[in-house]
Amino acid sequence: MARSRRRVAVFVSGRGSNLTALLKRAAEPDFPGEIVLVLSNKTEAPALQIARKWNVPCKAFPAEDFRRDRGARDLAMLERLRHDEVELIVCAGYNMLFIDEIFKAYPDAVLNVHPSLLPAFGGGMHAVEDALAYGAKVTGCTVQLIEPGEADGGPIVLQSPVPIEPDDDVESLHQRIHEAEWKLLPDAVALWCENRLVRDGRHVRILSPELARA
Ligand code: GRF
Repeated sequence: MARSRRRVAVFVSGRGSNLTALLKRAAEPDFPGEIVLVLSNKTEAPALQIARKWNVPCKAFPAEDFRRDRGARDLAMLERLRHDEVELIVCAGYNMLFIDEIFKAYPDAVLNVHPSLLPAFGGGMHAVEDALAYGAKVTGCTVQLIEPGEADGGPIVLQSPVPIEPDDDVESLHQRIHEAEWKLLPDAVALWCENRLVRDGRHVRILSPELARA
């Protein structure tokens, strides 16, 4: 009997190209996860239009609906996650930190994609600009498990390098990083859904499919 697919929620604030990549991969018959919910802090996020186009339930929780109380907003989101029986949270361009209650409810089950090879150029929203300004020759993207209180400090799941060309600007470099992310993030989600990620402190070991099934 086919194993049931794991229930995944994607958090978005922006354009949603990583959401599109996840939805495309999840549409493949063997993908072990299903995108069951898309949540945002921004009513106008273009990513919500993508969710609607794919007929995935989605909802915005804008700060003004919660008197700018981040805790109240996150608790309302957590209620929705529980209601929809979500097992894995994926932050795909979500620009807020979660309160601790979300991490307690989802231990080692919150993935994030960041546009640099962490720990380089972490801790902000301008990793691509910073890599260019620094004069780095290689940057890339990282998928990590997020930890309470720290945006980019969690254990690393997967990374992909992207060389910086001499004539790159932010747009051209971010485009190539995005292309790497569109593969890396769905790959990491698949590994999580197949129980192939084993966390030991800062280290995340990737099990073979055979070991994960045993
Ligand atoms: C990505 O580059 C991701 O690494 C960062 O935000 C960007 C989101 O892009 N956290 P998109 O909304 O998925 O197109």
